[in-house]
Amino acid sequence: MNELDSIVANALQSFGNANTPNDLENAKAQFLGKSGRLTELMKGLASLSVEDKKLRGAAINTAKQAIEAALNARRQALADAELEVQLKAEALDVSLPGRRRGGGGLHPVSLTLERIEGIFGSMGFEVAQGPEIETDWFNFTALNTPEDHPARSMHDTFYVEGGYLLRTHTSPMQIRHAVQHVKKYRARIDAGQSMPEIRVIAPGRTYRVDSDATHSPMFHQCEGLWIGEDVSFKDLKVVFTDFCRTFFESDDLVLRFRPSFFPFTEPSAEIDIQFQDGPLAGRWLEVAGSGQVHPNVVRNMGLDPEKYIGFAFGMGPDRLTMLRYGVNDLRLFFDGDVRFLSQFQ
Ligand code: PHE
Repeated sequence: MNELDSIVANALQSFGNANTPNDLENAKAQFLGKSGRLTELMKGLASLSVEDKKLRGAAINTAKQAIEAALNARRQALADAELEVQLKAEALDVSLPGRRRGGGGLHPVSLTLERIEGIFGSMGFEVAQGPEIETDWFNFTALNTPEDHPARSMHDTFYVEGGYLLRTHTSPMQIRHAVQHVKKYRARIDAGQSMPEIRVIAPGRTYRVDSDATHSPMFHQCEGLWIGEDVSFKDLKVVFTDFCRTFFESDDLVLRFRPSFFPFTEPSAEIDIQFQDGPLAGRWLEVAGSGQVHPNVVRNMGLDPEKYIGFAFGMGPDRLTMLRYGVNDLRLFFDGDVRFLSQFQ
């Protein structure tokens, strides 16, 4: 092996032994630095003849190129290795699940209202919404409950400035909805033609001065109204029985229509349900008030009570929710404790 070849071999070996960029730069200096071995050989060229300079110069250049190529390759290899180490150290385990915010959900009473709307919707009832701050007229007087009527004493409520009050039931929606409906068909009604039936439910918040395990000063009701030319008490029984059996998913649920009194219905009945099995088996539970709409109320709707007849009911969705889920204190629904509420998702 001639001298140049052995210098190249030496260079390749010391580059290979250099394990850090610093070592590599030191190794480079031994061959290509100011007093490196190859640099020394170049200096020696000066004393040679022109002919020899050419030959020797070319040979040194070839050796120099080989050394530089090896140097660059080693530099690259060391940089790659360093990057590799860094990447490993900074690796992020993206397979860990992130921390999420808990998802929200519907309130149990909202779930009940959706269920009620779904069932009555399938029977052709539309859904109406009305104001919680009502007038005396819609809440009482139009419902055949004049100012000195004793039935008002069971509906004590919060009075708001300007003669308004917080509605004590959803029954004012009977009048509000019927008046709207009748207005739309006034011309047909006046011409003695038949008007499309009124078939509506009106769910919403209601207020009374009341508070215990089964009463809250704010509670929910859902009104139902069906008015036509030939709507009877029998239809009320069929519709409400069907509703309860669907709602509680129990075909042998038994209903009882217990005679009662409301100023706006005649005859009137309270509706009780009896469970056939489960923890509530045998017990009667009141779920709604109902009756045939009183002629005075039909008149206040703008209709002739000789021609139009129907039924109404008002039920308590909070009660239905308690029964469906086996909750024994109504106030839990309105305390806003997520530990309780999240159980219904
Ligand atoms: N509004 C009555 C109540 O709150 C219930 C009811 C509605 C009764 C419709 C008859 C007809 O007690």
